[in-house]
Amino acid sequence: MAKVAVVTGANKGLGLALVKGLCQELNGIVYLTSRDLKRGLKACNILKFQGLDPEFHHLNITDNEGIQEFVKFIKDKHEKIDILINNAGVLFLKDAPEPKTFQAEQTLLVNFYSLVNFTEAMLPLIRENGTILNISSSRLKRNGPRVSEECEDEYRYQSLGLITVRRIQSGCNAYTFMLNRRLAPSHITVNCVHPGYVISDMTNGAGSITPEQGAVIPLQLALHPENGGLYVWHDGSRVPWDGPDPRGYIDRIL
Ligand SMILES: NC(=O)c1ccc[n+]([C@@H]2O[C@H](COP(=O)([O-])OP(=O)(O)OC[C@H]3O[C@@H](n4cnc5c(N)ncnc54)[C@H](OP(=O)(O)O)[C@@H]3O)[C@@H](O)[C@H]2O)c1
Repeated sequence: MAKVAVVTGANKGLGLALVKGLCQELNGIVYLTSRDLKRGLKACNILKFQGLDPEFHHLNITDNEGIQEFVKFIKDKHEKIDILINNAGVLFLKDAPEPKTFQAEQTLLVNFYSLVNFTEAMLPLIRENGTILNISSSRLKRNGPRVSEECEDEYRYQSLGLITVRRIQSGCNAYTFMLNRRLAPSHITVNCVHPGYVISDMTNGAGSITPEQGAVIPLQLALHPENGGLYVWHDGSRVPWDGPDPRGYIDRIL
């Protein structure tokens, strides 16, 4: 039976690279989804021009009606899917003109509540032995007095959007681990991954790796998940939830 994969927020950046990699490596059907019809179709055409064959579906993960319509579409057409990659996300950089409260609300809405809401809606469609991969970031749970020190620095020097993203990614990781436990009886694995500092619109063109490079480890996890409940760094290291900050001992940027 042909496998089915779905990637959210896939019209550009890492999401597009993930769809490209899945089209190359998965023996099956890959859905490139996008909240913007035009941008999504354009991205699909770019991959088709490269000889690949993604399917397109419109999907804004903050839109409940759209989610229900997508779930029905997938259920009617395929019944089940094998791989779900939650990639859609937003980030307001330091100089973003939007009011701070708007930045915080939107970031929380898209990167956490909508990820959870969409995933929960998709759960009945995930095939036994299937996998869910949450694209997370470089923050995990922080403990002890370092939290307050770090918060102080962040609030002084960084944007509220960035601070919110970092706090939310901890929530996204926590959801990953809890969901993995919940789905263990169905042998569905749930993992999260920090893709690295990826050059994309999100970073305003800054970054140290291309989307294709950032997609390598996430693709391995999506295509060959050995275990669930993992938080994986961009070099493939498994990062313990309560361990030291991997930005220090892996990236050496602390
Ligand atoms: N870039 C990095 O250094 C980095 C580091 C760590 C983690 N990440 C994570 O990697 C993922 C991809 O980021 P990226 O760097 O590829 O950023 P990107 O190029 O800005 O792509 C983000 C994608 O998410 C989509 N999106 C935003 N809100 C959405 C919504 N409500 N519904 C559906 N799609 C939505 C965007 O669509 P539009 O084109 O319509 O805006 C876009 O396709 C994000 O989850 C991000 O947090 C990135």
